[in-house]
Amino acid sequence: MQSFQPTRRAVLAGMGASALTARAGFAETVPIPLTAQRAMAQIAPEGYPQTEVWSYDGTLPGPELRLSQGTRLQRRFVNQLDVPSSVHWHGIRIDNAMDGVAGLTQDAVPPGASFDYDFLVPDAGTYWYHAHTNSMEQVARGLSGALVVEERDAPDVDRDEVLMLDDWLLDPETAQIAPDFNHPMDLSHGGRFGNLIGTNGHYALTLTAKRNERLRLRLINAANARIFVLRLAGLSGWQVALDGMPLPAPEPVPQEIVLAPAQRVDLIVDVTGKAAAIERLGNDQEWHRQVGFEVSGQASRTRRAAPASLPANPNMDAPDLAQARAIEMTIEGGAMGRMPMSRMRGMMQDGKFWTLGGQAGPVEAPFARLSQGEPVRLRMINDTAFLHAMHLHGMHFREVLAEGRLGPMRDTLLTDAGANHEIAFAADNPGKWLLHCHMLAHAAAGMTSWIEVA
Ligand code: C2O
Ligand code: CU
Repeated sequence: MQSFQPTRRAVLAGMGASALTARAGFAETVPIPLTAQRAMAQIAPEGYPQTEVWSYDGTLPGPELRLSQGTRLQRRFVNQLDVPSSVHWHGIRIDNAMDGVAGLTQDAVPPGASFDYDFLVPDAGTYWYHAHTNSMEQVARGLSGALVVEERDAPDVDRDEVLMLDDWLLDPETAQIAPDFNHPMDLSHGGRFGNLIGTNGHYALTLTAKRNERLRLRLINAANARIFVLRLAGLSGWQVALDGMPLPAPEPVPQEIVLAPAQRVDLIVDVTGKAAAIERLGNDQEWHRQVGFEVSGQASRTRRAAPASLPANPNMDAPDLAQARAIEMTIEGGAMGRMPMSRMRGMMQDGKFWTLGGQAGPVEAPFARLSQGEPVRLRMINDTAFLHAMHLHGMHFREVLAEGRLGPMRDTLLTDAGANHEIAFAADNPGKWLLHCHMLAHAAAGMTSWIEVA
């Protein structure tokens, strides 16, 4: 390793451009802003008015942040909204102080104020950032964006596209976001669903592609509650990463890709059809176009060879199950569940419908205190009539499958109604880490807990 580290000022001065030298002091002290602000976006089809959204830097979704693995993300979050906010960097195994959870890892940033985020990105992969202050409302209004950490040795593809899947609940007359965020029906059932479903801020996204072109598609489910069930048409290939983390080897894309809120999947696919699309299963049990690809020309005459595995991220070792401390968390509440009505009635007065480990969050005390480095197995008992997308901050985990086999590393796990799921991880990241349902109405209505690693 080279030990000589020139300062940024010296490097810039060495470039010999006086304008750059004059800016050097500025660049050293002020990180690039990431500004939460109101903006207008054409979400709905042409002919409908634009929708007022809350955005990062005026765009919907927010700017795609891309950086190389092992480097630092430095952004000055500037809050130009008239409500407090904060930014969470979903899936990054981050320094706790930078995790962005208002009330747990930092104070919410008041209107007009700012907060400097500065952290290392240890893992390559597809991540995203979103508001973590009153997220049920703020994420639904548009405060999210993609965060891509590039491998030092990236796979050979022709194009790399982020596809942020989302839905919006709009007034059909005005195309404005429906403001009733605390609807008891949403809180106690499946959450807040949009009536307009789209990608990258548009209701119908169409891209162009060439025959035999190889695409890396980074799918992110940014919706508040919707579970996307997807299939490919005219595209064939492999899934190579889940929730940012590379799979040990590329796997053929499954017939149906299930993407719960906050989950990501990285695909490497070849354009094999005369037209291509990603299709979504609707409530009507029909397949609808989610993203279209207009195919013209060809990138090559034949398909390429199968891709190699993505390089592993650091620290992907399986936790030691034999040594692991076992804990349990029951998920209760919601409509049609088994929680006694007498208990539910008391909670509803505070707008709560769900509990994690017997408590409706946010809670004062951690659900568990773990020693740093300790392997843990956490059994989540979903004793409700709904599916829940359980997300742990700060550390990825693996699902414990039959015969003690371990699933891929993830940060968000879809738990089935009435089923038990066990996850295992090494508690190797110190701090206060939220554990919550990523159906954001559920999180707001009680499904928010946390663990402490010290
Ligand atoms: Cu996407 Cu608590 O996070
Ligand atoms: Cu939930």
